[in-house]
Amino acid sequence: MKSTFAVLFATALLSMSPASAQNAAAPVAPSAPAATAPAAASESSATDVPGLGEIMTLQQLRHIKLWFAGHDGNWPLAAYEIGELQEGFEDVDKLVGGDTVDREVGAPIKGLQKVVADKDRAAFPAAFDKLSAGCNSCHHLLDHPFIAIQRPTLLPYSDQSFTPQK
Ligand code: HEC
Repeated sequence: MKSTFAVLFATALLSMSPASAQNAAAPVAPSAPAATAPAAASESSATDVPGLGEIMTLQQLRHIKLWFAGHDGNWPLAAYEIGELQEGFEDVDKLVGGDTVDREVGAPIKGLQKVVADKDRAAFPAAFDKLSAGCNSCHHLLDHPFIAIQRPTLLPYSDQSFTPQK
């Protein structure tokens, strides 16, 4: 009896292994498209840099996140978003050329960096408004005055906490 049970048990284990092998293989499948993604990305950057409108859409989300990070006194997150904005503006710089980017938003970004380094919550709103003014100044300059940037009133990212983390 005992040995029969042992055989049954062993058979059950054996029959399980293909299933678990399948389970183990399952997570590999989603990574397959991801593996091809960098190739696709480099392909597109080789032929054309993302358009200004696409970069701006990202700048817009960083601008929103920066506001809520600074507003909540989450200084590491605010510093991170400023860094992301800077990276975005480096790409804009390649597309626009000249010193337009630096002239329009260089000073406001430096100002924000100082406020964030000083953790100066009281000074944050005014420094943020200077950046928005720089965004708008460039929109005027480059024939898009109807794109008017302002302080956000609503955080569209409810899946991310903006509360300072320990
Ligand atoms: C160097 C000049 C320049 C600066 C600086 C700039 N923008 Fe723009 N922005 C543009 C131009 C030009 C367009 C139009 C791009 C297009 O559609 O080809 C644009 C478009 C946009 C759009 C519309 C995107 C869409 O598809 O709806 C948003 C939003 C935007 N900018 C946000 C910002 C924010 C926020 C900042 C500042 C943090 C900023 N921009 C700074 C030049 C600038």
